[in-house]
Amino acid sequence: MKYYIRTFGCQMNVNDSEKMAGILKTLGYEPAQDWKEADVILVNTCSVREKPDQKVLSALGEFKKIKKDKPNAIIGVCGCLAQRAGYEILQKAPFIDMVFGTTNIHHLPQLLEEAKSGNKAVEILEEIDENENLLDQFPTVRENKYTAFVTVIRGCDKKCTYCIVPTTRGKERSRRIGDILREVQFLVEDGVKEIHLIGQNVTAYGKDLGDVKFWELLQAVASVPGVERIRFTTGHPRDLDEDTIKVMADLPQVCEALHLPIQAGSDKVLQAMDRGYTQKEYLQKIDLLKKYIPDIALSTDIIVGFPGETYEDYLETVKVIKEVEYDQVFAFKYSPRPGTPAADIPMTESPETISKWLNDLINIQKDITFKKNLSYEGKTVEVLIEEVNEEGKLTGRTRTNKLVHVDGPQEYVGYIVNVKIEKVNRFSLEGRINGGD
Ligand code: SAH
Ligand code: SF4
Ligand code: F3S
Repeated sequence: MKYYIRTFGCQMNVNDSEKMAGILKTLGYEPAQDWKEADVILVNTCSVREKPDQKVLSALGEFKKIKKDKPNAIIGVCGCLAQRAGYEILQKAPFIDMVFGTTNIHHLPQLLEEAKSGNKAVEILEEIDENENLLDQFPTVRENKYTAFVTVIRGCDKKCTYCIVPTTRGKERSRRIGDILREVQFLVEDGVKEIHLIGQNVTAYGKDLGDVKFWELLQAVASVPGVERIRFTTGHPRDLDEDTIKVMADLPQVCEALHLPIQAGSDKVLQAMDRGYTQKEYLQKIDLLKKYIPDIALSTDIIVGFPGETYEDYLETVKVIKEVEYDQVFAFKYSPRPGTPAADIPMTESPETISKWLNDLINIQKDITFKKNLSYEGKTVEVLIEEVNEEGKLTGRTRTNKLVHVDGPQEYVGYIVNVKIEKVNRFSLEGRINGGD
């Protein structure tokens, strides 16, 4: 019996898929190389913009074909689009056997049994399943042996006016530190060197638990022997405080990299988005980060064309990306999401104008990214070697999350080595090994 999982969306979904693979493995399933040979196909969906919604439907159209050769194969849909519009998907794709949401993933074994007996297994909960933490007890099946995601907080209490996530993922629920540490310990024993703490809003960690702060979680994870690197995604500018930045700077395990979404540069747009900070306040946090962690690599998310955004507003965003000099920017066109407050605001600019703004912004950032990469030339950096690529080169990442290719023996996979950077490309660095751990 084989399974195939297609994952859309963010790291939360990737980690959920790793857990689902773990559940299926526990049930005796093996991974399929191709969906055509699978007995169970799961589509883990994202709904953050309209495009991912459409991608899900076209993937389902493809997977439907499996029913010709394998009429008993099960097709399941889960994740954020399923949580938001599971019944609609079922109408559009009636051949689906199983639909479930984001807080009842641990019910997969029962849902699968139900579907196998020929019934439609549909469970989309309005309320958060109170036993959702049972999911944490399953092992993960990960593609990367040496770096692992650990979900530390689920949901989001912010109410950014464009965003569907609070609807699809519910309110903030932090996992207890003890449970997180147990999972980290297990991963380290399994050979993991880099722990990537994830959540829609990790810097809000602990607020719902009472007296725990996110930086205390960082300290606790760093105290687990064998954890060599810690990353976390996504931090919210509103919750990122000086205490956290100091702890980031003090703990050698915390990598010099941070994804801090700004979304827009104009105060008017930020307010309409209800982000809870001004450009100035955001830039003050960036200054603090650069002060305490001088070689930090910063990245951000940007939405272009929010309703009411003018060219002058857009130029404020451009100004910020030039000033901050991010290592990477993920920019998207605004996409109205059903039921969100912004969806009722009429669009002010034409799609062509917004596309042009987006392209211009991406091009400006391309040069900044390249300039940042160029600053690595001649430097020696720590690289966690993760694999040997198709060309036989060792491949890994710097603490600042840059991709590095280097010649060296296969035995270095899974180790942190020092690499002297000799060549800089647009998307990667190349170098020579200088020693390591
Ligand atoms: N919690 C994170 C982001 C989660 S969603 C944060 O607050 O930063 C990931 C990214 O998708 C967002 O940062 C935003 O840039 C983008 N996004 C969310 N809703 C969107 C929408 N309606 N249209 C376009 N992009 C959107
Ligand atoms: Fe969405 Fe805002 Fe929450 Fe991020 S912080 S998930 S953008 S509501
Ligand atoms: Fe998408 Fe859900 Fe993540 S909407 S971005 S998969 S939380």
